[in-house]
Amino acid sequence: MDHDSSFSVAPVVRSELFDHSGYPALVVKDAIADYFRGKSGKRPSVSTSDPDVVINLHISNDHVDISLDSSVIPLYKRGYRSEQGLAPLNEVLAAGMIMLSGWDGTLPLQDTMCGSGTILIEAQMIANKIPPGKFRNFFGFTRWKDFDENLFIRMKKESEAQIVKSGTLVTGSDISEAAVRQAEANIRKAGLEGVISVEVADFKDVKRASGDGYLVINPPYGQRLKPDEIENLYSMIGSTLKHHFAGNKAWIITSGKEYLRNIGLKPKKKFTLFNGALECVFAGYELYEGTKKQASA
Ligand SMILES: C[S@@+](CC[C@H](N)C(=O)[O-])C[C@H]1O[C@@H](n2cnc3c(N)ncnc32)[C@H](O)[C@@H]1O
Repeated sequence: MDHDSSFSVAPVVRSELFDHSGYPALVVKDAIADYFRGKSGKRPSVSTSDPDVVINLHISNDHVDISLDSSVIPLYKRGYRSEQGLAPLNEVLAAGMIMLSGWDGTLPLQDTMCGSGTILIEAQMIANKIPPGKFRNFFGFTRWKDFDENLFIRMKKESEAQIVKSGTLVTGSDISEAAVRQAEANIRKAGLEGVISVEVADFKDVKRASGDGYLVINPPYGQRLKPDEIENLYSMIGSTLKHHFAGNKAWIITSGKEYLRNIGLKPKKKFTLFNGALECVFAGYELYEGTKKQASA
């Protein structure tokens, strides 16, 4: 930046040393403005609505990080999700869950409570090697003085040249017709309409898409349902997994840790993950045909 650039300072402060995050942000802002005034006699202007440069100020106790924000719009905002339901998953979390599940993009993947389709879209983006930032139309670094547009265009072309047509079966369903319409709109926006199909269906009636495969679901968390409704829902999920998904690996993310026992299956793996500020469990199950002994034999 130089004195012609506008800038803003975005503070995140967790420290007893400061009563108000605005004060350390003001100190940093003045220091930057004074530096340019000392150099050129002119102060860069501060803009909170549309700054050229955003500076992040993170203070944790007595540790301070000052960094340039190269994204500005958070990276989880991939740019394909114009439609979303009441409780959509963070896109980056969905991608991380798919990677933690061990899915390598070759076996079929289903999300039978797909909502706005985040898990399905992130899965096909991974399988098709679609760069996660492909649908974004803004990165903060494009306004930096040393931004090299030709280099950026070349890097974009190189990463888009890696895209493949995977042919992996990725399918979804949801009991809500409105959710399925939202998923369809988002799938279209991500250019994946030929490789993801979604339909309206109650999970209890859905069967596995093929022999071996993965199911990754994000059932309702419970804030909007009564405790007995949620217990029944998780019991139904458990019995459907046992009867319709034998041979599959199933992964469930929920913040309702206490309801997982209603599923009636022992998870093989468990991770603690956060959907925004909400602490969730991501539990993985192996569903055998017959008994576990017969399966390993
Ligand atoms: C937490 S939301 C899923 C959000 C989704 N992962 C997203 O990113 O948009 C849970 C979804 O489960 C669906 N659902 C609830 N009960 C269901 C059932 N019995 N069968 C199928 N879907 C169900 C709801 O309609 C809702 O869309």
